[in-house]
Amino acid sequence: MEHLLRIEHIGIAVKDLSAAEALYARLLGAEPYKREEVESEGVITSFFRTGPNKIELLESTRPDGPIAKAIEKRGEGIHHIAFEVADIRAEMARLRAEGFTLLNEEPKRGADNKLVCFVHPKSAGGVLVELCQEIG
Ligand code: CO
Repeated sequence: MEHLLRIEHIGIAVKDLSAAEALYARLLGAEPYKREEVESEGVITSFFRTGPNKIELLESTRPDGPIAKAIEKRGEGIHHIAFEVADIRAEMARLRAEGFTLLNEEPKRGADNKLVCFVHPKSAGGVLVELCQEIG
């Protein structure tokens, strides 16, 4: 059985969503297809398609949100890599058993019609990993 099926998107932390949308539109040669606020995370997101993958731009909606803190620490740039999974609860259990630290006890509602869970970067070689499962 395959576990992490593919890279679903790469999340990029930005200070100014409109400016970043204009930059990535020039870079990718495509317009964003969706903006969506995830209130529980304190972010507003913007999505681009690049072939079978996506780019997710994230701007903080509050000064103490996770994206604002990440930018404070490391500046703008790649924030997380998201992998598509078929059964997020099963993958969370597998990763826990493998010794990874999960940032969420339960899958939660993310942007773009997904259930998501994050893996702590300290347990994943410095990379914030997101698991995401499409909500049917
Ligand atoms: Co994401």
